Amino acid sequence: MKIAVYPGSFDPVTNGHLDVIERAARLFDRVIIAVIKNPEKTPRFSFQERMAMLKDSVIHCDNVEIGNFDGLLVEYLRKKKARSIVRGLRAVSDFDYEFQMALTNRRLAPEIETVFLMTDYRYSYLSSSFVKQIARLGGDISGLVPKAVAKHLKKNLTR
Ligand code: PNS
Repeated sequence: MKIAVYPGSFDPVTNGHLDVIERAARLFDRVIIAVIKNPEKTPRFSFQERMAMLKDSVIHCDNVEIGNFDGLLVEYLRKKKARSIVRGLRAVSDFDYEFQMALTNRRLAPEIETVFLMTDYRYSYLSSSFVKQIARLGGDISGLVPKAVAKHLKKNLTR
């Protein structure tokens, strides 16, 4: 069984992330979305909220589940018996960081491979930070995030 882990902070999940999740779900038998509990940058949403938003967004994907982790990503993959890390690539600007991270993970765990999936061009500019900013300033975020997330953001960020 081919198991992949798609890690991230998902603060919150956007349609760009969802596009990568759906692509990964078609390639692997099982996809575990791994929400980092305590990312370097303090998240706007708790990991429980970030997980709940993801859960509502991937309800239509049978082979996708949500997990969370702290510590080294490769250790989480070993625990889950997964061999692939999925990461989404938007524009060239993502490349430096992703390249560094993939090679660092390879140094730590040579048996684990990072697989990059290109998001649909419609989402190539999309980021969780801009989505939060738009929601906070009362802009329209429909089409940028899954419906369940839009509801959550409106309730929590427009106060
Ligand atoms: O969505 P993000 O914030 O770009 O995700 C980054 C994430 C969570 C994948 C990355 O920071 C991570 O894997 N952190 C866990 C710590 C770790 O394993 N570090 C060594 C490899 S860089």
